[in-house]
Amino acid sequence: SLVYLNGDFVALEEARISPLDRGFTFGDGVYEVIPVYNRRVFRLKEHLERLENSLKLIYMRNPLPVEEWKRILDRLVTENAGDDQSIYLQVTRGVSPRDHVFNDEMQATVFIMTKPLEQPDNSAGSAAIVRPDIRWQWCHIKAITLLPSVLLRHEASLSGAREAILVNQGLVTEGAASNVFICESGKVLTPPKSRQLLPGITRDLVIELLQQNGIECSEYPVPETQLRSADEIWITSSTQEIVPITVLDGEMVGSGQPGPLWQHAARIYRDFKQ
Ligand code: PDD
Repeated sequence: SLVYLNGDFVALEEARISPLDRGFTFGDGVYEVIPVYNRRVFRLKEHLERLENSLKLIYMRNPLPVEEWKRILDRLVTENAGDDQSIYLQVTRGVSPRDHVFNDEMQATVFIMTKPLEQPDNSAGSAAIVRPDIRWQWCHIKAITLLPSVLLRHEASLSGAREAILVNQGLVTEGAASNVFICESGKVLTPPKSRQLLPGITRDLVIELLQQNGIECSEYPVPETQLRSADEIWITSSTQEIVPITVLDGEMVGSGQPGPLWQHAARIYRDFKQ
């Protein structure tokens, strides 16, 4: 497939990055994953705004103007296979001698690839486990430094689960790679934005769409006990959309089937995507 690396469009096999890239030595960079439907980049403005914010929080300037990001993404989406794709883009602080300390002269490394995206079929429901949130204090930054999340997803997969739902000081933060919603007496709740969780683009859209469709949805802290007694649990992300969690730590969630509010939300989301 065609990828973008520092100004060049090249085949993935041809792309080369120095082992001294700070992304490699320090995990010093940020990223975005953006879905493409019918060759149209979905929620591009929101993803580019979040990227801008992640960069600012790690003391980096955005290496490219918005128009240039759009031009590059358009070309990749046009030339790569699949009407539906998922874009992975990452910006690192660039190549430098291995020194924790950085300076303003460093040239960012920009890498972008896409792959075909299958429409998810979430109707069967999925399992999740609950784990302590072992990540750092700045989870609102979409950092490429993902070792805790990798280990948590590994634990989930060893338990036959799709996701690890994380708890910090008794409160649900998010999934290792998703945001979390719960339903209780016909109402939907999701933890408010904070430095403990990523402000998911899907999360924001789901809140907006539910409210527009007359389903009560509020941002409110969710204690672990409330998660465990919820009628429904959903996780959301750009590539997975809205996934009903029907088994939590081996116990049925509600009836053990995807719930009525999930059915409704998934339909609203599907219609909006078209
Ligand atoms: N992950 N929280 C975390 C920790 C995430 O990594 C993600 C996305 C989300 C959901 O965000 P969004 O709705 O903007 O996709 C929440 C991406 C998909 C990934 O790392 O592959």
